[in-house]
Amino acid sequence: MTLTSRRQGVRGADPAYEGNDVTRKTVRIAMNGVTGRMGYRQHLVRSILAIREQGGLDLGDGTVLWPEPILVGRREHALKALAERHGLAPRNISTDVDAVLADPTVEIYFDAQVTSAREEAIKKAIAAGKHIYTEKPTATGLEGALELARLAHEKGIKHGVVQDKLFLPGLLKLKRLIDGGFFGRILSIRGEFGYWVFEGDWQSAQRPSWNYRAEDGGGIVVDMFPHWEYVLHELFGRVKSVQALTATHIPQRWDENDKPYDATADDAAYGIFELDGGAIAQINSSWAVRVNRDELVEFQVDGTEGSAVAGLRNCRVQHRSTTPKPVWNPDIRPPTPSATSGRRSRTTTSSTTASRPSGSCSSSTSTPTPPTTGTSWPAPVASSSPNWA
Ligand SMILES: NC(=O)c1ccc[n+]([C@@H]2O[C@H](COP(=O)([O-])OP(=O)(O)OC[C@H]3O[C@@H](n4cnc5c(N)ncnc54)[C@H](O)[C@@H]3O)[C@@H](O)[C@H]2O)c1
Repeated sequence: MTLTSRRQGVRGADPAYEGNDVTRKTVRIAMNGVTGRMGYRQHLVRSILAIREQGGLDLGDGTVLWPEPILVGRREHALKALAERHGLAPRNISTDVDAVLADPTVEIYFDAQVTSAREEAIKKAIAAGKHIYTEKPTATGLEGALELARLAHEKGIKHGVVQDKLFLPGLLKLKRLIDGGFFGRILSIRGEFGYWVFEGDWQSAQRPSWNYRAEDGGGIVVDMFPHWEYVLHELFGRVKSVQALTATHIPQRWDENDKPYDATADDAAYGIFELDGGAIAQINSSWAVRVNRDELVEFQVDGTEGSAVAGLRNCRVQHRSTTPKPVWNPDIRPPTPSATSGRRSRTTTSSTTASRPSGSCSSSTSTPTPPTTGTSWPAPVASSSPNWA
């Protein structure tokens, strides 16, 4: 049963709530796949538990929404361990998805299972009348995805898919530039995403092995193109067409039990997206590329009035009025204000943390930070950064 209690000062520690009458509405959410990387860190710990730590979600109408996760999965001991670690009620774990879906007190079904298990699970949840929130992709094929959308629409439920990359500080800054007309007419977008995923033979792979098996729902297209679709659509225009050359550069990998297996899925995709409005996006995605850029993902946007390069956090701009004349001459240093050494130097933005997403973009004409001296390539972003893995 959904609990709605009326009590004094739900957020006892928050002076804003002291003495106020606040209604706390509990919303029970079935979280399937909560032992996985995304289900656990991103969605349970960094979202649901974080909201609870803050006293719930204030809806601004005297109601505070209190999320109550029901941990659903295949391994009872793993769910129990999670519940214990985070002080969640032992009754709120289940290995029986059907029973959880039959429970009328559960309002929302959330799915962070392996991709191949999602479509059927969401179908069942829709049939049970649950609202849906899910990791991407909803399905591994177009027909399956459309069918889910149709079923959800017919049932009249609310449904949403994770679009977390829109909230990356770097992309929020890019969006502000677009909305402010900085670029003029946008001509093209170049995206560079990727890093080296260890094969698993002498360094443990940092991603689950199913990602590299097509038969288990793996592959970089099914993993990353959902992100590119909504990022391009929300920032630049609807994707009208997409074409990609895909490759499996690393044909053999080692799994979680150190056993070699055939990597049957694509681990790189070189895509071209045609957008409404005429802009063209080209995005390279690869798990077999070593990082030689500031961030694990970077988007360069070129427009008639200016250009920008945005990463996970930062965004650099170059207006047409400050665009240096390019000189193709290896005997002289490139004529950019930041060219103070053989290495590219970096300008940084005023915002350096993920919790301050709205900092301004820095201009390439601003005083650059001192150039990095060593000869090694920039290290990958630390593990506390937004999760692209
Ligand atoms: N939004 C993002 O940036 C982002 C990033 C990574 C992954 N994802 C998505 O999240 C989902 C989960 O990815 P992950 O990296 O957390 O995977 P993971 O392997 O770490 O977790 C998978 C979860 O599914 C469960 N599961 C259910 N059926 C299974 C089966 N038959 N075999 C193995 N595990 C099974 C596992 O127990 C586990 O809880 C994927 O659909 C992936 O596309 C999204």
